[in-house]
Amino acid sequence: MVRYSDELIDEIRSRNDIVDVISQYVVLKRSGRNFFGLCPFHKEKSPSFCVSADKQIFHCFGCGVGGNVIHFVSKVENLNFKETIEMLADRSGIELPVVNSEGDDKMAMLKSKIYEINQITAEFYHNNLYNSAIAKPAQDYVKKRKLDNNTLKNFLIGYSGTSNELYKLLVEKGYKEEEILASGLVNKMDNGKFVDRYRRRLMFPIQDTRNRIIAFGGRVLDDSKPKYINSPENIVYSKGRHLFGLNVAKKGDLKKIIIVEGYMDAISLHQRGITNVVASLGTALTEAQGRLLRKSSEQVIIGYDADGAGQAATLRGLEILNNLGCDIRILQIEGAKDPDEFVIKYGPERFQKQVDKAISLVEFKIKMLKNNLNLDHPNDKIKFLKEIANILAKIDSEIEREVYIRNISLEYGISKEAIYAEIIKLNSQNVKSTKILEKSKPRLEPKKEQVVNEQTDKRERLIIYLLINYPEKSYEKIKNNVKIEELSSERNQNIIKKLYEEIEKGNINNNNIIDWFEDEETVNYLSWILAYDFEIGEVDKCIEDVVVTYQKEKLIKKRNDIVRKLEIQDISAEERENLENELNNTIIALAKIK
Ligand code: GTP
Ligand code: MN
Repeated sequence: MVRYSDELIDEIRSRNDIVDVISQYVVLKRSGRNFFGLCPFHKEKSPSFCVSADKQIFHCFGCGVGGNVIHFVSKVENLNFKETIEMLADRSGIELPVVNSEGDDKMAMLKSKIYEINQITAEFYHNNLYNSAIAKPAQDYVKKRKLDNNTLKNFLIGYSGTSNELYKLLVEKGYKEEEILASGLVNKMDNGKFVDRYRRRLMFPIQDTRNRIIAFGGRVLDDSKPKYINSPENIVYSKGRHLFGLNVAKKGDLKKIIIVEGYMDAISLHQRGITNVVASLGTALTEAQGRLLRKSSEQVIIGYDADGAGQAATLRGLEILNNLGCDIRILQIEGAKDPDEFVIKYGPERFQKQVDKAISLVEFKIKMLKNNLNLDHPNDKIKFLKEIANILAKIDSEIEREVYIRNISLEYGISKEAIYAEIIKLNSQNVKSTKILEKSKPRLEPKKEQVVNEQTDKRERLIIYLLINYPEKSYEKIKNNVKIEELSSERNQNIIKKLYEEIEKGNINNNNIIDWFEDEETVNYLSWILAYDFEIGEVDKCIEDVVVTYQKEKLIKKRNDIVRKLEIQDISAEERENLENELNNTIIALAKIK
């Protein structure tokens, strides 16, 4: 891992004001000491995303993410730590020193070797494809799939040959065993022999957005299984973070981006002039891919296969993209099993028409509903009406809702009045719900699983807050009264222990406390505490109060424990006496506090 000095990181952070940086991504409005906006990490209609200029942190009270400016950029841009630092340094005109350690140099070397090996391999496979002596079956197959020569060249499609030609070639070119194996293109058997990973397969190189070849997908030429073999993940490739074809798609207009399931779907559409297409890499769509899509385009169109698996994948993809706040449409592929078959059968114009007609999330939900019900049956029809009302009630825009109601009424023969009536019924049930409140005021409590004792947890958070913000005033008092092992959660114990240690060392400027923790959950938690408005009032009094309440609660708990023990019948007389004494003392101590 790269290690920049703490000073340099501090410098980068101080030159990149968090409000400035986040304003490039989110519209922020000032509200008191903080700024609020719509969270870029989940979908929301009322702002619960908070940025604090004085603390230089952000926190979303809706989905719970938070951190400092580095965490933000890393998340929103999908970058690792090093890349984030580079971007922020660049943004603020800071020159980064070359501080690669030996390990980094080695890693960078190996990576660049793998890119080289991948490039050589792709070209080797590609040339194979033009060699009739070995690639006749592949040539026939390519013809059958109607891939033209331009496409073969553009995507560097190839054929992987019959035995271990690649291994031999790479050795010949002087690559070391370690490098060859790290590429994942050759395996070493238990008997020490080397074998090419891909044999007799049609090869699709996978490129990143910088046009570097990072992996391959290899398809069989017949119906045998597995249909595809893909490269294993390695130091240059992690499949959930890339999209096939994005490097090519980026060259053209990307106002809308279509995501399809298969390499062949993407390639086939590109060949026919539809170039705003990418494919996920043989896995269900990941959040990282979702962010990549959101970053690349204003609208994401899901164009998955028409079969059951494709439908299921669509649902999962929708969930991810919707949570990221993407504008989503769903492509309806009718009369063909997938986009490739569709465009071959009906041509690119008709495909484009389907793209223009791609349906919204609401329409898709209604369609799914209809598919699972028999609308000729009165019971099902009533159910349908109820469910529709549920979906429609959640739409904020009156006009949008109006349009849906009209369409549904026409399409399914349900009167508009009936739909309205059902929605009104729902709304009146929810009138007291927080929905209205949510709109007028940013939400300040995160939606999270109920903590065992919310009061205690909140008090401990306040203690953390006081230690961070008023260490000089609070440290002695808190330290004398709050014992680490008595804290309610391991997380609070770790944080307060760390704070005690740092303050003991004289580190009382703890604005960078978030940096001391690496796990995401603690970072999110700390950002919550920092962004939270505890309404402290007078600091000394607040410290006093929190300590007293803490002690009191401890005593109450102790008292209750003793009482519970005394209720158990079979304890010795001696034990009973001890407990009763202890109970007395506890009650007296408690009375003193009150
Ligand atoms: P064709 O069947 O040739 O049209 O290929 P396709 O690219 O359209 O593939 P399909 O729609 O069947 O599958 C979608 C994607 O899932 C493929 O592009 C691969 O990335 C992946 N995939 C499909 N089958 C397999 C498999 O057997 N193993 C692995 N690892 N991935 C697969
Ligand atoms: Mn296909």
